[in-house]
Formats: sequence, structure tokens, C-alpha cells
Amino acid sequence: MLSPVLLTVLMIFQGEKAKTQTTKALDCGAGIGRITKLLLTTVFDSVDLVEQNPNFVKHAPAYLGEDKARKVERFICSGLQSFTPEPGRYDVIWIQWVLGHLTDEDFIAFFKRCKEGLRPNGIVCVKENISFGDEPEFDEKDSSYTRPRETLMQLFAKTGLNLLKEEKQKHFPKELYEVRMFAFQ
Ligand SMILES: C[S@@+](CC[C@H](N)C(=O)[O-])C[C@H]1O[C@@H](n2cnc3c(N)ncnc32)[C@H](O)[C@@H]1O
Repeated sequence: MLSPVLLTVLMIFQGEKAKTQTTKALDCGAGIGRITKLLLTTVFDSVDLVEQNPNFVKHAPAYLGEDKARKVERFICSGLQSFTPEPGRYDVIWIQWVLGHLTDEDFIAFFKRCKEGLRPNGIVCVKENISFGDEPEFDEKDSSYTRPRETLMQLFAKTGLNLLKEEKQKHFPKELYEVRMFAFQ
């Protein structure tokens, strides 16, 4: 499941013309650190992880294992709505399957803070589900919204970031939400 993403990342970050460095990444809404373990620590020298659920943060080091946990400099327990990335710290800010938990207002404000958190030539990467219809769909079980692509694009347009690349996840079962990846600068 992660390999197409990894390929995209490598294309963007490590292609001949890539200017983005691979020094430091931030994993947002990281859970127990799945993306950090399978992707970010394989590409970046060092990773910070931010997650709202203290239980996930607590168990992340054991899940990551000793070698990968050593690459994580900061395990941060915070909601993205109240988290400010340290200015100029990150080559990549990775935001996967968490934006549905933010209100539109918090979404826009968080991306504006992310913009400030980037190092020169840094990139914000988003991977998110896309709703089937034209309206956001609310999931009562995990209190999250799945937004239509159009709604996401309208929100992104208000963040001050520019879209570099968009890709639809291929070979995904039709009965599941479409998944899209976006890279911004
Ligand atoms: C579907 S999981 C995705 C985890 C990880 N990004 C991945 O792809 O494996 C969503 C994660 O976002 C976290 N989360 C929910 N609301 C959040 C918020 N407001 N700020 C930060 N994390 C949040 C949840 O606790 C959960 O770990």
C-alpha cells in the first residue's frame, strides 16, 4: 500500500532536479508512527511526530523499534489545531488521513503554520480520502469528515501554498474512497 507513495516521494525529493533536502520531516496525525516507520525514516535523517492521542504517542517508540525510534527527535502529543511547527525546521511535512478531523477553519490555519515550518524548498505532502459525492460526508464512528476534492482544493487555495503535484492512488478497490496525494510548496 505504501510503495506507490514511496515512489512518488522519491520522484519528488530525490530526482535529478530535486532541491528539497532529506534532513528533517514531520509526521502529522501520526498514530503510532506507521508512516514514520515505513516511509519517513527510510528517506529522512530525522523525523518529528505529532499525534493527538497520548496512547499512540506512548506506544510509538516500541512500534518503531529501536533503530527507527532513534531517528525520531520529537514525539509530540498535540492536536494539529493547536500545534505550530517550529518555523523553518522541516524539509517535508507529511499529513496523511487526519485532515478529516479538522474543521475548515483549523485546516486552513494549520496549513498556514506549516508553510512557516518549511525550510527553503520544503514541501507539504497530503494523502487524503475523497468523498463519493459533492458534499462532505460525516463519519459518526470516528467523528471525521471526508471531503470532496473540490472542497479540499478550495481550502488549499486559502492556505497560501502552491500545488506542485497531485496524484490519484492507483489500483484501489472501487468500493473504497478514492485516495489522492498532493504536494505543495
Ligand atoms: C486514520 S489515522 C492515520 C494515522 C497515520 N497518519 C497513518 O496514516 O497511519 C488518524 C490519526 O489522526 C489522529 N488525530 C485525530 N484528530 C487529530 C488532531 N486533531 N490532531 C492530531 N492528530 C489527530 C488520530 O488519533 C489517529 O492517530
